[in-house]
Amino acid sequence: MKQTRYVTTPIYYVNDKPHVGHAYTSVAADVLARWWRLQGHEVFFLTGTDEHGQKVEKAARDAGMDPQAFTDRVSQHFRDLTGTLGLSNDDFIRTTEARHKAACSALWDELARRDEIYLGHYEGWYAVRDEAFYGPDELTERDGVKYAPSGAPVEWVREPSYFFRLSKWLPELLRRFDLPEGHPERIDVQPEARRNEVRAFVQQGLKDFADKPEKLDISISRTSFTWGVKVPGDEAHVMYVWLDALTNYITAAGYPDTSAERWKFWPASAHFVGKDIVRFHTIYWPAFLMAAGIAPAKRVFAHGWWTIEGQKMSKSLGNVIDPVALVAEYGLDPLRYFLLREVPFGSDGDFSRKALANRLNGELADALGNLANRTLSLIQRNCEGKLPAEAQVTEAEKDLFQYLDLLNIEVSTNIEAQSFHLALEHVFRAVRTANSYITAQAPWALKKTDPPRMEAVLRHLHSVLRRVATMLQPFMPGTMAALLDQLGVPADARDLAALATPLPGGTALPPPSPLFRKIEIEAT
Ligand code: MSP
Repeated sequence: MKQTRYVTTPIYYVNDKPHVGHAYTSVAADVLARWWRLQGHEVFFLTGTDEHGQKVEKAARDAGMDPQAFTDRVSQHFRDLTGTLGLSNDDFIRTTEARHKAACSALWDELARRDEIYLGHYEGWYAVRDEAFYGPDELTERDGVKYAPSGAPVEWVREPSYFFRLSKWLPELLRRFDLPEGHPERIDVQPEARRNEVRAFVQQGLKDFADKPEKLDISISRTSFTWGVKVPGDEAHVMYVWLDALTNYITAAGYPDTSAERWKFWPASAHFVGKDIVRFHTIYWPAFLMAAGIAPAKRVFAHGWWTIEGQKMSKSLGNVIDPVALVAEYGLDPLRYFLLREVPFGSDGDFSRKALANRLNGELADALGNLANRTLSLIQRNCEGKLPAEAQVTEAEKDLFQYLDLLNIEVSTNIEAQSFHLALEHVFRAVRTANSYITAQAPWALKKTDPPRMEAVLRHLHSVLRRVATMLQPFMPGTMAALLDQLGVPADARDLAALATPLPGGTALPPPSPLFRKIEIEAT
């Protein structure tokens, strides 16, 4: 039976249009979803929009619109972006949908039934921009305004509120963070530095509030605004937007109907998040679920943030990059490739046009594009466009094939560990080795001197290209489909397992055409 895999992006706030940071999380999740499909797993890939809360309500008000009409409009930009980015999501969830409100209410009822929720009074500092509460010692003050560590201004809030008994679940969370790899109850927070950070944060909280742990409980309802999911049985309250938002991951899997076909995907295999929202996903979310008797997600991958040409991306600096414009300028696959190649996943990185052009020109157009073009043009010209028969591996290509045999494992291990950049580096090492091989063997010169050897060399190069193109599909789906077409690989022979079956010699190959267009690099 096929194994199931469930991968998610965060759901995006609809207070503004999508930018390249959003595109990044989505593309990374898409690569993993596609990779798992390539491995033959049954995958469910979810993305969507987070539409409730004060931040969105305020954005709607600023736009002079009713929140529902406003969220309908902005959510559509994110839905359109899934097409622009070539995302292979199986569903797109909006938190204003009826199915989601039903799931939130059911989860709330379950928590209440299990006595995990109590009514109290909230008094403290709230940052609307982060939709988060902060302790007084976390704040800094400038010109009479207090700010959260994220830089968001906070306001004093005092209102009746329901609380969730978070304190009760913290020791259990620590136990699960530290379980060994492969243990079914492990909550795998990646990269490791983030796991240590979250663990230290929980430990510190437990230490600081050892004699009054209920201080660690969190407020999960608000009464000062109405744009949210109503608390069942107490409609003066709306649910805290993070409880509402996080629940999307089980809504889409069918919750509360745990006999739904999709429920087989839960618990999620991997939540992709940015480093700013790790705590919500690794502390609140698993605690809510455990408290409701539901298994928490297996893994949370946290990536870093992009700066733009060395600066923080912000509206006031006017340097917010629209992913739609980038795709129009550079093409989708070069952008997808660049985002995952340039920066180790998990670290912060800088987005610059020059770096993008360098990657595109050097690695895609020169290294991969030329290898494909040279090989396929020679087959076209010198072999009447027919794939030469399989040939024996000789001393000359021993190294190349030794490396290629390991490539599947290297790429797979690195993608599983969210090291997308290393996976790509391994693939490109194979491409570079193949380029040295073609130069050393000079098949163009063998046509006159040793035609059988020429055919053997071209067949070996074809094998390298097929393997590389197959593995790069999750990163550059459109371009790799074009390359696999040019390589004569049938549509049903493009997954990893199919690599074990060589294409028959004599397969007719279409005339090749260039895969990548070079970009002019402006002198600086
Ligand atoms: N709505 C919440 C998530 C709820 S998930 C249950 C949210 N939305 S967001 O739109 O503000 O951010 C979504 C994602 O975009 C986050 O993972 C965040 O880290 C990412 N990014 C926002 N700006 C970014 C960069 N400059 N660089 C990289 N990623 C960035 O948070």
